[in-house]
Amino acid sequence: MLLADVFALYIKTKNFHWHMSGPHFRNYHHLLDEQSEELFAMTDAVAERARKAGGTTLRSVGQIARLQRLVDNDVEYVTPDDMLSEMREDNAQLV
Ligand SMILES: [Fe+2]
Repeated sequence: MLLADVFALYIKTKNFHWHMSGPHFRNYHHLLDEQSEELFAMTDAVAERARKAGGTTLRSVGQIARLQRLVDNDVEYVTPDDMLSEMREDNAQLV
């Protein structure tokens, strides 16, 4: 479900924002924060569009976990390059 993917990507983007490292920390940290804000800003519109179209929407974090198609990354250390390339792929999949 689209909204589950948006929330999953929001948390994943915050995860990488919080755990960014390396010489480009500041730029990448801010970049990911901007992207997370854009994702969060989408959520209400997507949920209300689903309701307007006669459907239901998300009720819990557990439901997000069951419905998301994007894959979480709970690995303890991810290199900055790997974070950015994973973000690129996930955002392309979301689109
Ligand atoms: Fe922050």
